[in-house]
Amino acid sequence: MNIHSVFIKAGELMPTQTVVITGANVGLGFACARAVLNEHREWHVVLACRSRERGETAARQLCKETGNSQVSVAELDLASLASVRDFAGHFVQAGSPPLHSIVCNAGLQFSQGRTVTADGFESTFGVNHLGHFLLVHLLLRQLAGSGRVVMVSSGTHDPAQRTGLPAPRWVNPEFLAFPEHDPQPLQEPAGTAGRRAYSTSKLCNLLFTYELTRRLEAAGRSVGTAQPITINGFNPGLMPGTNLARDYGPVQQFAWNYLLPVLALVLPNARTVTASGKALAGLACASEFEAVTGKYFDGRKETASSAESYDRNKALELWEASCRLTRLTPAETIVPLEQRLPVAAPLHNR
Ligand SMILES: NC(=O)c1ccc[n+]([C@@H]2O[C@H](COP(=O)([O-])OP(=O)(O)OC[C@H]3O[C@@H](n4cnc5c(N)ncnc54)[C@H](OP(=O)(O)O)[C@@H]3O)[C@@H](O)[C@H]2O)c1
Repeated sequence: MNIHSVFIKAGELMPTQTVVITGANVGLGFACARAVLNEHREWHVVLACRSRERGETAARQLCKETGNSQVSVAELDLASLASVRDFAGHFVQAGSPPLHSIVCNAGLQFSQGRTVTADGFESTFGVNHLGHFLLVHLLLRQLAGSGRVVMVSSGTHDPAQRTGLPAPRWVNPEFLAFPEHDPQPLQEPAGTAGRRAYSTSKLCNLLFTYELTRRLEAAGRSVGTAQPITINGFNPGLMPGTNLARDYGPVQQFAWNYLLPVLALVLPNARTVTASGKALAGLACASEFEAVTGKYFDGRKETASSAESYDRNKALELWEASCRLTRLTPAETIVPLEQRLPVAAPLHNR
């Protein structure tokens, strides 16, 4: 695995900053990369993809569409802790321009039955949460000047949004990783269980966002310090037609790819991938968000996430379990791992 900077042509602007976008070969990640390449032409975009081939095809397409070739591809499989550690190691060695933003966009959803990652974790929790949890920690030290992390969550984390997906079900995070150990599992069809695992993983994205906000503050790296790092959550809205429904049955896939995109024209929570990609790129790069941290954005609008997402006990439980499951060591990150933080004002009341 390597970071291939082959797409930079001699004579072009030397890139000044780097943005890493996970799962950037299709869908929202691709649209976000395109928006960054269009609007920040002096920045370098790393497409962090699990398939090098699909990443390179996307990079060529991006060069063609934007006329900007400051894009490279690096292999990252979030379903493997070893791959995440390899990616971070190679990123450091590659000597890219200073890292400004990490966009944790990659995600998946299963409906045909449970699958596990290379490390044996249930895949939805393993990829959507644990892989990104480890990646962010390993790259925090690389964030230079004022750095940013954006976690792509979803309205499905919030039962009040009535998205049509089952509500998240919070249990001991060890049971999210290993559902077969859960002493009181819900008896529900594979499709419902898979979609519930998805909404729960999107809740985890926000619990992590808010806990890391507090720990960056404790480490003296939050806004108002010399080298601030911000982290915010993002809901792109319903974007039918992306590959997110790849594991659905044929009827549901037809609805996702052909019916919902038409219905989306009148659904209030639906957006185009292009519009959400631009909003996501803004959160990652635009100067107006420089001092914004610990917030949740529904598209471009800052709003409150679900009451459960602000639960400090759940955030702490998730943090501690994620450290254990990823075998994260204090030397791998810049924030305190063990320390219990004093109770401060809730983030959404600030
Ligand atoms: N679509 C929606 O309506 C919607 C709504 C709310 C939130 N979201 C969120 O938006 C984000 C992007 O979704 P999307 O709709 O653009 O879906 P998508 O088209 O399926 O794109 C998902 C991306 O994640 C990558 N990915 C999957 N597993 C990975 C792994 N193990 N390691 C690295 N990358 C992996 C995929 O790579 P491959 O191409 O190689 O599979 C793909 O690049 C997700 O976090 C999703 O939860 C989507």
